[in-house]
Order: sequence, then C-alpha cells, then structure tokens
Amino acid sequence: MMRLTIIGFGNQAKAWSQNLKDSDFPFRVALQPGSASFDKVIELGMETVEIGSKEFFEDQAYVLLTPDHTHHTFMTDYGQIFQAGTLILYNHGFSLTKNKFQEHYPHLKHVLFAVKAIGSEIRQQYLSKGKFGAVYSLEFISGETIHIEKWMKTMATALGVNLGMFKTTFEHETQADLYSEQGLLCSVIPYTAGEMFRHLVEAGIEPELAYLEVWHEMKLIAIAMVDKGPEGFFDLISPNALVGSEKGFERLITPEYKSNLKSLLTEIQNNKFNEELENTNVEDLRKTIRARWVDSPLMKTFKDMNSKE
Ligand SMILES: NC(=O)c1ccc[n+]([C@@H]2O[C@H](COP(=O)([O-])OP(=O)(O)OC[C@H]3O[C@@H](n4cnc5c(N)ncnc54)[C@H](OP(=O)(O)O)[C@@H]3O)[C@@H](O)[C@H]2O)c1
Repeated sequence: MMRLTIIGFGNQAKAWSQNLKDSDFPFRVALQPGSASFDKVIELGMETVEIGSKEFFEDQAYVLLTPDHTHHTFMTDYGQIFQAGTLILYNHGFSLTKNKFQEHYPHLKHVLFAVKAIGSEIRQQYLSKGKFGAVYSLEFISGETIHIEKWMKTMATALGVNLGMFKTTFEHETQADLYSEQGLLCSVIPYTAGEMFRHLVEAGIEPELAYLEVWHEMKLIAIAMVDKGPEGFFDLISPNALVGSEKGFERLITPEYKSNLKSLLTEIQNNKFNEELENTNVEDLRKTIRARWVDSPLMKTFKDMNSKE
C-alpha cells in the first residue's frame, strides 16, 4: 500500500493520523523545521519527517494539511523539487483554485480529497462509527486514474469515511464550502443563537435555560435533522414547534434575506470574496471576534455549564 505523507499536525492532521494509525494505513507526519509538534507526534508513536529534508521527498503521495494560506509558499518552496507524478492531495479546493497550482506544477498529480467534517469530528465519528463523507476530484489527472481511485478509497475507509466518496471538481467544492460557512454554519447559526440568548436573558430568563434552548439544543436538533432527513424531521416535531416553525420561516426568511443569501454565493463565484480575503488581516480579525465572545454572557454560561460534572 502506497504510504501517505501528512503535512502538518493541526486540526485535520491530528484526526487523519490517529484514524490512519488505528486502521493500519501507512503514513508519516511531515513538520516544518523546529516545529513544536515533533514531540507530540513522536509521543503518539508516529513516524515524523522534516519538511524540505532529503527524506521528505521520497514518497509518492502527500496531503497538504496546513492552513490554506500557507499552500502557495509551500508550493513555491518545494513544488519543483517533488518527483514527476507525485500525488498532492488537497483537503479543500480553495488554494489550488486560487493559485492554479495545476498550471504552475504540471509535473505533479493534483487531487482533491476533501473530508466533510471538522477535525475533531473526524476522530470522534471514527471512534463511535458515526457517519461522514468525502468528495474528490481527479480532473487534473490525465490518463489512467483507476489505481489512484482505488488507493483513495482504501484510505477513505481507513479514515472512517462511510457515507461515500463523491466526485466533484475543485471549483465546486470550494464554492460549496465557502457558501455553507458564510450563509449558515459560521454565521447564521452562532450569531442567531447569540442574539436569541441575549434576548432571553434580557427578558429575565435564567441563562442556563437560555443556553440549553439556543446553544446546546442546536446540536441535538442537528442530529435529528441529519438522521431523519427534512421530511422526517418536520414529522417529528411537536405541534407547537410546527406552528412556530412556520411563523419563524415566514417572518425571517424574507425575500430580502433570500436575496442576501444568494448574493454571498454570487460574490464567491465572481471573486469578490477572494479580494476581501486578500485585504483582511486574518489574525487581527480572529482577535476581534474572540474579543466579541470571550466575556459574553453566553460564553460565561457555556463555561459554567460545562465545568459541572
Ligand atoms: N479545521 C478543520 O477542521 C477543517 C475542515 C475542513 C477542511 N479543512 C482543510 O484542511 C486543511 C488543514 O486545515 P487545518 O484547519 O487542519 O489546519 P491547521 O490546524 O491550521 O494547521 C496547523 C498545522 O499546520 C502547520 N503549519 C502552519 N503553517 C505552516 C507552514 N508554513 N509550513 C508547514 N507547516 C505549517 C502547523 O505547524 P506547527 O505544528 O509547526 O505549528 C500545524 O501543524 C486546510 O486545507 C483546510 O481548509 C480544515
């Protein structure tokens, strides 16, 4: 079985390496010189290699599990050194779509293999045999792809992917991923819950109750939605919830809301979002957002509730 070199040891890489280890799939972890992660990886009994060393280039398959904004520098530094035909796997289509690596490094086989779960869940779902899926693209490989596909399927199984591996393109994966983050997962869900928590507490509702209603129950409802599907979910909810759902739907999901939602996708597709990203200092933004939440009553309640036995 062809060995995989996992580059980085962050959110995704930790889960990938632990799952592959438990499934006996051959891999090693490549880290930047001086990385503080060397000790952790060695402690876990995994093989390590230094990025850029002679040994680093001896494999035939690599997955770039470092932050997307680091991929350009990585490819500039090492892209030309990899042997012709080396597989470079991307867990997200973003960096290749933006930087057109397939044009700058045509001697490499650029493959999308995106696992559709956050790192912590890749590990958690693997352990609990829960369901998660992946998408892939071999659009930049000319000729025979059957061996790559077979190897990827074995690797997907070793990672715990059990909801299927579906064909897409780098561009489609990038657009769908960015849109789901902007329109729902990382915006509407946390911020609507945050607003509702504030309204409830200001109205005199106990913070613990408000937390359970708008934050913790989100997870339980999401599990029911995913397990039952939309029809089964709406069959399941109580009459009060059904009538309330219709009321909230009509009041909140207005034509203006729908149009704003759609505009997020348009701005991903016409490159406006990429330009905004270019002009944003991500670390400063992370500090601003952290400051917004760190001392919030919702965060305080979250900490209190989760420190209890
Ligand atoms: N976060 C998620 O769960 C998630 C979900 C879906 C898709 N993805 C995709 O998965 C990929 C990895 O994301 P991630 O969130 O797992 O990354 P991450 O946690 O931010 O990656 C951190 C790791 O990258 C290493 N690293 C950082 N800069 C580096 C550089 N310049 N050269 C070499 N190594 C460097 C760090 O090294 P040190 O250990 O030395 O600090 C660390 O091990 C991305 O393509 C992302 O879009 C992530």
